Amino acid sequence: MKRKTKLDPWGTVNIKDYSKLFDEFGISPFEDILPDVPNPHKYMRRHIIFGHRDYHHILDAMKSGAPFAVMSGFMPSGRVHLGHKMVMDEIIWHQQMGAQTFFAVADMEAHSVRKISWKDCAEIGKDYVLSLIALGFQPDGRIYFQSKCPVVRDLAFELGVEANLSELSAIYGFSGETHISHILSTLVQSADILHPQLTEFSGPKPVVIPVGADQDPHIRITRDIANRMRMFKVEARKGHISIRAKTANKAAMHEIAGRVDGKVKVYAEHVDVYENGDIDKIASIVREVEIEYGGYGFYPPTSTYHRFMSGLTGGKMSSTIPDSIVALTESPKTAAAKVKKAKTGGKVTLTEQRRSGGEPQNCTVYELLLFHLLEDDEHIAEVYNECREGRRTCGKCKALAAELMAKFLKEHQDGRESARERLGEFGLKI
Ligand code: TRP
Ligand code: SF4
Repeated sequence: MKRKTKLDPWGTVNIKDYSKLFDEFGISPFEDILPDVPNPHKYMRRHIIFGHRDYHHILDAMKSGAPFAVMSGFMPSGRVHLGHKMVMDEIIWHQQMGAQTFFAVADMEAHSVRKISWKDCAEIGKDYVLSLIALGFQPDGRIYFQSKCPVVRDLAFELGVEANLSELSAIYGFSGETHISHILSTLVQSADILHPQLTEFSGPKPVVIPVGADQDPHIRITRDIANRMRMFKVEARKGHISIRAKTANKAAMHEIAGRVDGKVKVYAEHVDVYENGDIDKIASIVREVEIEYGGYGFYPPTSTYHRFMSGLTGGKMSSTIPDSIVALTESPKTAAAKVKKAKTGGKVTLTEQRRSGGEPQNCTVYELLLFHLLEDDEHIAEVYNECREGRRTCGKCKALAAELMAKFLKEHQDGRESARERLGEFGLKI
């Protein structure tokens, strides 16, 4: 069906609520780069992923064939549900687009912050991993538990050299009572984010971290720390490119000067390059030298931000309100029943609905279809338009969503059972 009206089936209304993030924190609208994304995921097409930082690095790499990576993770702290599925889908999409892929089970965070026992961390973590694999994660990706990954733990310690307590407290709200392991777990998370750039994993590269909008503080602090870990700063100035060393390192400065093209002037703590406009090439030479001199050459992590689904009962999704969430492990039958009880944007009477239309932008059933259940954009646009124009009943949507949900869960759960047999392929002994 062609769209007749200029209604927006992706619910831009809600996105406006996030515009504060754009202004206050320097997150860029995803829409601006969407036309450059090859084969965009439905979350992108539908503006569910609404923001990003530095995503052009990822797009450039996708197009040129340069290495790039995707990394994200979860605290194993409850049942795996549709909210987790979003991040998993985003990871898998990037893997299909050629990203080196990393998934962390944040058991150190769950243990220190939520007091979850190691045994439960292992069990719940496995539950997440089974869904990840069932959704399409491929064995060339790396799935790991923080506590079993010395590379990440060592890097966390190293990053701690560049992070102080008062700034971490300002971001995470730590007080004098906060346990040290809780504080450390935030550095472990930064290490999760940065470790794909270690030489073990073939060195510095753009790494995208798909997260929910609430996780931006983690991204900001990690970007800061990544910058602080650099030995050099490369900047375009008027008429030249400047390479500045944070601490005087004559040998490294000369090494860089010898490797870049163009006219070079070497000073005690910086090198200026004239007649060579290619800042990316210079930056990559600087990274090489930095690594040879014992540094890391990190790119600040890229991120994407998705908006959240509401809970099925309206309001937030919360595991304390079982009817508000659909767990990926619950029986297709009870899930379908929840969908049938879910809060819609329908009017009180059918006559009213016919006369003034429903409100898909305030409808949890519509959200289920939009986020998870309908792949076809034209179909979702049709639901939207029919609803707005009063030509659709909520009963029809609920029946459709309940049926698709039950079908998805059935298939997903079969997929989880086969994943159980395949854990060895992913290097996991759990
Ligand atoms: N803090 C995240 C959560 O609360 C989990 C997490 C750990 C994570 N390491 C990460 C998320 C790295 C993204 C990237 O679930
Ligand atoms: Fe939601 Fe469908 Fe009802 Fe519209 S008709 S309010 S989309 S359930």
